[in-house]
Amino acid sequence: MTIPEIFETMDYGTAPESDAEARAWIAKHDGRFGHFIGGSFTNSGETFATRNPATGEDLAQVTQGSADDVEAATNAARKAFPRWSKLSGHQRARHLYALARLLQKHARLFAVLETMDNGKPIREARDIDVPLAQRHFYYHAGLAQLRDSEMPGHVPHGVCGQIVPWNFPLLMLSWKIAPALAAGNTVVLKPAEYTSLTALLFADICREAGLPKGVVNIVTGDGATGAALVDHPDIDKIAFTGSTEVGRRIRQATAGTGKALTLELGGKSPYIVFDDADIDSAIEGLVDAIWFNQGQVCCAGSRLLVQEGIAENFHARLKSRMGNLRAGDPLDKSIDIGAIVDPIQLARITELVDGNTDGETFQPAIDLPVGGCFYPPTLITGLSTASHLMHEEIFGPVLVSSTFRTPDEAVEIANNTRYGLAATLWSENVNLALDIAPKLAAGVVWVNATNLFDAAAGFGGIRESGFGREGGWEGLAAYLKPDIATKPVKSGGPATPAHEEFDGIDRTAKMYIGGKQTRPDSGYSTQVLSPRGKPLGHVGRANRKDLRNAVEAAQKAAGWGKTTGHLRAQILYYIAENLSARAGEFADRLADLTGKPAKFCKSEVETSLEHLFTYAAWADKFDGSAKSVPIRGVALAMHEPVGVIGAFCPEDAPLLGPISLLAPAIAMGNRVVLVASETAPLALTDLYQVLDTSDVPGGVVNILTGAHGELAGPMAGHMDIDAVWSFSSASISTEIEKTAARDLKRTWVNHGRNPDWATSAGHGKRFLQAATEVKTIWVPYGE
Ligand code: NAI
Repeated sequence: MTIPEIFETMDYGTAPESDAEARAWIAKHDGRFGHFIGGSFTNSGETFATRNPATGEDLAQVTQGSADDVEAATNAARKAFPRWSKLSGHQRARHLYALARLLQKHARLFAVLETMDNGKPIREARDIDVPLAQRHFYYHAGLAQLRDSEMPGHVPHGVCGQIVPWNFPLLMLSWKIAPALAAGNTVVLKPAEYTSLTALLFADICREAGLPKGVVNIVTGDGATGAALVDHPDIDKIAFTGSTEVGRRIRQATAGTGKALTLELGGKSPYIVFDDADIDSAIEGLVDAIWFNQGQVCCAGSRLLVQEGIAENFHARLKSRMGNLRAGDPLDKSIDIGAIVDPIQLARITELVDGNTDGETFQPAIDLPVGGCFYPPTLITGLSTASHLMHEEIFGPVLVSSTFRTPDEAVEIANNTRYGLAATLWSENVNLALDIAPKLAAGVVWVNATNLFDAAAGFGGIRESGFGREGGWEGLAAYLKPDIATKPVKSGGPATPAHEEFDGIDRTAKMYIGGKQTRPDSGYSTQVLSPRGKPLGHVGRANRKDLRNAVEAAQKAAGWGKTTGHLRAQILYYIAENLSARAGEFADRLADLTGKPAKFCKSEVETSLEHLFTYAAWADKFDGSAKSVPIRGVALAMHEPVGVIGAFCPEDAPLLGPISLLAPAIAMGNRVVLVASETAPLALTDLYQVLDTSDVPGGVVNILTGAHGELAGPMAGHMDIDAVWSFSSASISTEIEKTAARDLKRTWVNHGRNPDWATSAGHGKRFLQAATEVKTIWVPYGE
């Protein structure tokens, strides 16, 4: 036989990985697992089977966690918290380092067990999931070491409830546990019911590493166990990765409880190929984007957008590549496509594809194993942008495709989704690529690459893909809170009007929308009284229509986000200059509104000026960073404005409060809709004259007056508002968090407690962080 003939006929053959060690580990536990609580395994309770989806074989029995189990785990974590949080950063770093080392020493066991339980190709578990999990613990050993010196003034939340999905069971566990522990929290983690085994193996290595008892607790079970964890009153923070639907439920369940929350949810991420792209590389990237882990990836590039001129050629070459994908036993090292995690997921994918009548569906004629949960790689072309499958997360090896003509159209179609997790773009033109990347509505953008992850780079989404970042300093920050003093917000209550003779000219403060003074749509006004009941004027009572108009004006002012930090700084200084010119007048107004001594009111105006200067200073200095990721290239963490922010102003500082919210927001390029304090709104309505003379473009700052209770729901439910802040009462916080669950809007609320606005707690970086999103843009370099 000649060499060319060998090349003609040569097949891969099989290269199976042994499962003996993994089976021995399961047998060591008698094939039945309890929970891992307070440093040891409990006896198994009511159990269910965890199966190998490639064969349907039962691998082990796992306990369904009850509310009592969650209680026991939470108590263990609470008990461990004081000692763990008081360890030095260095001592915690040693523990994380030990876990990283043990993950490395048992790497193959973890990889094989993951593949057996989940169905993913061993090549991926071995080369991606497990190494990234190790890297996460190493990286966070470093963050633990540096936390005290680099993030002073912060404390851990306490006990964190963490709920992870089944697509990357060990990796998601590491994304949750490593930063929580580095920050000084203790955890109760619930793995997904389909894939509990690597979490239980991790529990074993926590013991082996000598981690203090109760620092990590693992409770297995289904959604009911997860819900019990979310509802437990002694949990301080919930971190969830999974479906948008469950994320929404968790947002509702935690609303008003004061529990911190981060959500990493679904996506329908665009994969954009421009006509000057390196097509072979873009096709290989696509294999990784949608067929990695059978497409069961939250950031899968599942929505292909190809420039029209190359679409036919691109699809033809893609189909040919699909014909070379090898599906089969996930433990075979030469397999590309393994099994879908469970028959329920397989049925869901099948139903979505079979129910689709749009476009053309292509599945290559490749061999699929008989039995087990296998689904062929699938391409659906010719879909219109309105097609159901262009929007629905299929969460399987199914790629949908559409075309675009111009770069602008590519951005428009790419952003036409309720999600915003990731995006990929391919172009050999660096100018085009770097112009498009910031325009994509996503938390992560890959340029000429896809599915790059690293512990140093933040990962997370916007819109219905959730909020919060995992990885990097920003991920650590989500497990810490500022160590500041707050006090309960005073309820205020209306003063009783005193009958006084009126000797001025009646003046009603209007609202301020799109740079113009406007009357309330409702036709209702409210009298503003001093604390002693002296009438000071009237303000309009805003309704939904006024809110809508204000949001529309703010949307129209989107150009503000594209201005330079320098320009925004100039305008903030100008506001300060004009406010300073009228300082006496504002101080008098505050004295009337609050009844506080003149000295105190003067000082509120002075501090307002100081805060305006602070944020003018920050406008061009709150930099992003270039992350040290282990590739030849950069991962740029860009600070972008959130968009339109609605904010309820505090009662306790009628001028300084609103300034402390609007200044960081506009400094970072956001537009704001402010709802003035209910009892002392005139301090803010006076400010629009200052804004008018300070070159603030119309629509950048909008001011409404009225009842917070009437506006909180509509504000949090408004589709064109990107984030809502509240420094009003506790009930407003609850209403906002509950209503924001609808579109999973980002919220920042006070739960009825405010800082002293005049101290360092009332301004600074946490305000800038709330006013920005971190977008990570990966740009590999080299040919
Ligand atoms: P899921 O969101 O129900 O499951 C994720 C985790 O949440 C699991 O640990 C589950 O036990 C837990 N959970 C379920 N209900 C809960 C509740 N009420 N409270 C607290 N925890 C709860 O996802 P599922 O049903 O397994 O998959 C359905 C779809 O979700 C998939 O087809 C896919 O579209 C999406 N999904 C997205 C993931 C992502 O990473 N973005 C991961 C898993 C699923």
